[in-house]
Amino acid sequence: MEYDIKDKGLSDRGTQRIEWAASFMPVLYSLRELFKKEKPLKGTSIAACLHVTTETANLMIALKEAGANVALSASNPLSTQDDVAAALVLKFDIPVFAVRGADKDRYYSHIRNALESGHDITMDDGADLVSTLHKEYPSLLDKVMGGTEETTTGVIRLRAMAKEGVLGYPVIAVNDSMTKYLFDNRYGTGQSTIDGILRATNCLIAGSYFVVIGYGWCGKGVAKRASGMGAKVIVAEVNPVKALEAAMDGFQVMPLREAAPIGDIFVTVTGDKWVITKEEISKMKDNAIIGNAGHFNVEIKLEDLEDLSIDQKEIRDNLTQFRLRDGRRINLLGKGRLLNLSCAEGHPAMVMDMSFSDQFYSAIYIRENAGKLEKKVYILPEEIDQKVARIKLETMNIGIDELTEEQKKYLSSWDKGT
Ligand code: ADE
Repeated sequence: MEYDIKDKGLSDRGTQRIEWAASFMPVLYSLRELFKKEKPLKGTSIAACLHVTTETANLMIALKEAGANVALSASNPLSTQDDVAAALVLKFDIPVFAVRGADKDRYYSHIRNALESGHDITMDDGADLVSTLHKEYPSLLDKVMGGTEETTTGVIRLRAMAKEGVLGYPVIAVNDSMTKYLFDNRYGTGQSTIDGILRATNCLIAGSYFVVIGYGWCGKGVAKRASGMGAKVIVAEVNPVKALEAAMDGFQVMPLREAAPIGDIFVTVTGDKWVITKEEISKMKDNAIIGNAGHFNVEIKLEDLEDLSIDQKEIRDNLTQFRLRDGRRINLLGKGRLLNLSCAEGHPAMVMDMSFSDQFYSAIYIRENAGKLEKKVYILPEEIDQKVARIKLETMNIGIDELTEEQKKYLSSWDKGT
């Protein structure tokens, strides 16, 4: 078996941590048990490009037990947990091509390695694997049954491909399932972003001015958690509806250039490029902390930060301190890469349980519908969302009510007014 990982010696620790995560992923575990006899993915090759974490490991193990041949590459150079990569290779016999801190060439060569291991189905987080496949292996596109996409940024890229008519096979936007974005994006990003800031800085959130840039589901989660820890949260947004929502959720809303001289901590969660640039950095307070929780490292314009600086040093793990010409210090989290995974461990397993159950169901859906889907971006049928939510509730020992027949009839009628 081919693979490229950092250190085989880390596998015991990785195995223990994978088991720990499994204990918080009861939905995925139940699907794993359910499908391991039936093997609905028998003989299906899956090229995955996901963050190599304990939660992803459990997804890979579940897919393998359902009969798939999986190969895993990283979806970000700084999110790989090297012990998990080692455990997957040594203990679970799953090829992994991922090393934390890989440079750009190695990162893309790992994606090629995963693709070349088989690609009946692609599983992506950010669409780097899909775009590599389209750019470098166009002759293979017709052989792919379908793909899945985990994150908002990836779905945006795929919709752009579909719009231009270049998407070569059907893809399921797992991100757009309610059991994904309402929980993973909001509560997952909310908690793991605060976790990353704390691990890298050990700063006090209470009483700080905490600027959240972007008020999508991820931004909402970050703002809520920062506020829960006592921060004075300021939201910067470009969309008037979302800005209004932030205002009515109780946050101060203002343009970023006005927030720049006030904030102690800044987090970008927009999915767009060059959100924090020279203009904002020039106005920030001494010792401000800046970080990005969006998928790509484009939200903070690093060239601008470097241009304004006379030197930089790694002041703590995953924290670079830049000294500007006028003496001010600006502290950058996780090199501007998604800080919840570069400075912490990503979203907790409890929330990834649902996202990855959606991924698991998507792979089965693609296999069952192979050849019947168009070259479009799909969302999973609502029944699957409902099923995942129901199992999750059961595992949390939470019961809910049911509509009576009379109530169902009323909801599908139009002629009964006051
Ligand atoms: N994305 C965010 N958190 C993650 C995690 N824990 N595992 C995989 N992908 C993630």
